[in-house]
Amino acid sequence: MHFVKTIQEVREIHKHPGGGWGLVPTMGALHKGHLALVERARAENKHTAVSIFVNPTQFAAGGDLEKYPRPLEKDLGLLAPLGVDLVFAPSAEEIYPPGFQTYVTVEDVAAPLEGALRPGHFRGVATVVTKLFNIFQPDRAYFGQKDAQQVAVISRMVRDLNLPVEIVVGKTVREADGLAMSSRNAYLSPEERQAAVVLFQALSAAQRVYEQGVREAERLREVMRDVLAQEPRAQVEYVSAADPLTLQELDRVRDKALLSMAVRFGTTRLIDNLMLE
Ligand code: PAJ
Repeated sequence: MHFVKTIQEVREIHKHPGGGWGLVPTMGALHKGHLALVERARAENKHTAVSIFVNPTQFAAGGDLEKYPRPLEKDLGLLAPLGVDLVFAPSAEEIYPPGFQTYVTVEDVAAPLEGALRPGHFRGVATVVTKLFNIFQPDRAYFGQKDAQQVAVISRMVRDLNLPVEIVVGKTVREADGLAMSSRNAYLSPEERQAAVVLFQALSAAQRVYEQGVREAERLREVMRDVLAQEPRAQVEYVSAADPLTLQELDRVRDKALLSMAVRFGTTRLIDNLMLE
């Protein structure tokens, strides 16, 4: 496993003939959700690269950029046995040298939900992901359904800008009680950790009424809000039943719907989602 910190070194390694690279972009603090994407990339590509970069441009000023966990040695220890070929962990200056001023902005699909509550977030994501695609020129890139709007934004960007990469989406990996794995779960107090299962409970309750035949989207949102309201520690930011491609709120579910939510527990913000098909 090569471990490199500069773009120059990535380019050198890529000169080897017989390409076929899969890329898994991450911000580190790796858990089973990330590792499932890495294993899939390993299985589907000749070579696998993982990037570990806590991308400053996708964090709000005064957000959790400074306190975001950075256990690099532990992450390398998790990746080594998986047969990863290349780990790229650049500095912020390597990715954003002085004078940097070019950004990628995806419009409508990045506007609601996470985009509305975290202004500039998807501009930062789209910009760094474009840079990683240019640095690695991977055949496939792997993203988690956990961040469903991120998948929608990146998929739109790849189509709109004709980026020659296939986006592969891995399903959400959960703890035994249903909580979606996230690097931010580590911030939760024991009481908050227990309470946080309410996100999956709310999504599951809406899925049950959908399976019983309910198609009115507002009813699905109401079911989720009702379950969340039963947990006093949960401060709801949004609850959504939207078109999975455009992220526009639905009136009725015809084909597919993406149920999603953002909920705060103290200072920790969690997101989760479930696809109805
Ligand atoms: P990060 O939060 O580290 O997540 C890296 C990848 O792992 C993302 O594609 C995310 O959706 C996926 N992932 C996280 N938790 C998951 C889970 N429980 N199950 C399945 N997949 C999961 O997302 C980012 O980093 C950044 O925005 C990035 C794309 C790297 C750009 O900076």
